Amino acid sequence: MSPSLILTPSILSANFSCLGEQIEALEQAGADWIHVDVMDGHFVPNLSFGPFILPVIKKHTCLPVDVHLMVSNPDVLIPAFIAGGANYITVHVETCSHLYRTLQSIRAGGCKAGAALNPATPVESLREVIHLLDLVLVLGNNPGFSGQGWFPEMAAKIGRVAQFLDQCNSSAIIQVDGGITAETLNDAWLAGARAFVSGSAIFGHPGGITNGIQFLRKQVVF
Ligand code: DX5
Ligand code: ZN
Repeated sequence: MSPSLILTPSILSANFSCLGEQIEALEQAGADWIHVDVMDGHFVPNLSFGPFILPVIKKHTCLPVDVHLMVSNPDVLIPAFIAGGANYITVHVETCSHLYRTLQSIRAGGCKAGAALNPATPVESLREVIHLLDLVLVLGNNPGFSGQGWFPEMAAKIGRVAQFLDQCNSSAIIQVDGGITAETLNDAWLAGARAFVSGSAIFGHPGGITNGIQFLRKQVVF
C-alpha cells in the first residue's frame, strides 16, 4: 500500500466564474490530481459537465485529471473523455452491464481504469474484474452532491476493500469520495484509502484553497 497521500480536489465545488485561476491555485497549493464529477441527472439527481471541460482544465494545469462518471451509460462518453486527455476514468459498477468490456475499453484508450462503489454495493462485485483495475473508488455517502455528511461505516468498507485487494495481489489505489473533511480524512486513511477527493472542505475553507489543502494534509500522521 502506497505510503503517500494523494489529494484530488473536486472542481464541482469550484467558483466557475474564475475556474482557470482556481485550477492554477490548486496546483500551486500542492494538489495531486484534479477530480472531475460528471453527472447526467439520471444515475444521480444532479447535472454537471461533459467532455468539453477537459481542454479547459488542461489549459491551466499539468496535473493528472481523474474523471468520475456518475452517468447511466458511461460507454457512450468514454471515447470523448479519452480523446480529451483524461488520465483516470472511473465508472460506477451499478451502471455497467458489461463492466469487463468497459474497463478494457478505458485501458485500451491508454487511461487508468477505476470502478466506483455506491454505499450499498458490496466489495465482492469487483472480484471478476480486479485485474483490470488501477483504482477502486469508495463513495463516502450517496453520490450526486458536494457538502454532504460522511457515512462513518464507510471506513470499515474501505478496510474490506484493502483486505480484498491484498488477497488478490492488486496494487490498485483506494480512493474515497464524499464527505472527506479534516474530521473524517484520517479514519479513511487508517482504513487504507490513499487517494482523497474533497470539494467543499477545500473550496469552502475560510482561509482559501491553499489553507484548505494544507489543513487536510495535516490530518494524517505518517
Ligand atoms: C458527488 C461527487 C463528489 C463531491 C465531493 O458525489 O462525486 O466528488 O463533489 O464533495 P464533498 O467533498 O464536498 O463531499
Ligand atoms: Zn466524485
